[in-house]
Amino acid sequence: MTGGSDSEIVLAPLDEQALPRLLEVAVKGADPIDVMPEVDGPPGWTPERREAFLQFHRRRSLNPDTATETAWTIQVGGTIVGAARLHPVHRGKSVEIEARVWVARWARGRGIGRWVTETLIDAAREGNGGRYVASTSTDNKAAQRLMKSVGANVELRGDDVDSHLDI
Ligand SMILES: CC(C)(COP(=O)(O)OP(=O)(O)OC[C@H]1O[C@@H](n2cnc3c(N)ncnc32)[C@H](O)[C@@H]1OP(=O)(O)O)[C@@H](O)C(=O)NCCC(=O)NCCS
Repeated sequence: MTGGSDSEIVLAPLDEQALPRLLEVAVKGADPIDVMPEVDGPPGWTPERREAFLQFHRRRSLNPDTATETAWTIQVGGTIVGAARLHPVHRGKSVEIEARVWVARWARGRGIGRWVTETLIDAAREGNGGRYVASTSTDNKAAQRLMKSVGANVELRGDDVDSHLDI
């Protein structure tokens, strides 16, 4: 999946080769909580969290025996600047496609998150319908604005904000 021009944005399927580079970008440019499930321990990118990041992506998307989601690196001009994941969850006859996107701090505010989200929604629409969902916290104004800007319903639930869009 690609954008246009020389600062072209590309969603490249995550693979073993890109995984260590993605970890490096995450360590330099994002908080662990924004890119992976919580891991106990002191704050920051501890060795345990770095290892958990690698294992998480292997389990969730790279190992065909355990994979439940599709993951991509977000690249701009060939450089990794973040990642995106789609996780379909079947609920009876309907499907909810849970989306996660993160962009490194130095690349934020340039429209990358918006392009990626629109591209993921288009990809999700190629399935059999359902609902595109994304969750964040009340203090994450960028993520809320991003979801509003693509036409999602954004609902406050305690400290969380759930966004959904019928596809
Ligand atoms: C949320 C995130 C992916 C947005 O990526 P981005 O590349 O900076 O987003 P964009 O530049 O495309 O901006 C998207 C919208 O958010 C707005 N925005 C960007 N940064 C903002 C900020 N700090 N505060 C408020 N709004 C902000 C933009 O103005 C834009 O809204 P508009 O289209 O109405 O103008 C990025 O901030 C991020 O990675 N955050 C940490 C991880 C996260 O929260 N992921 C989302 C939950 S799955």
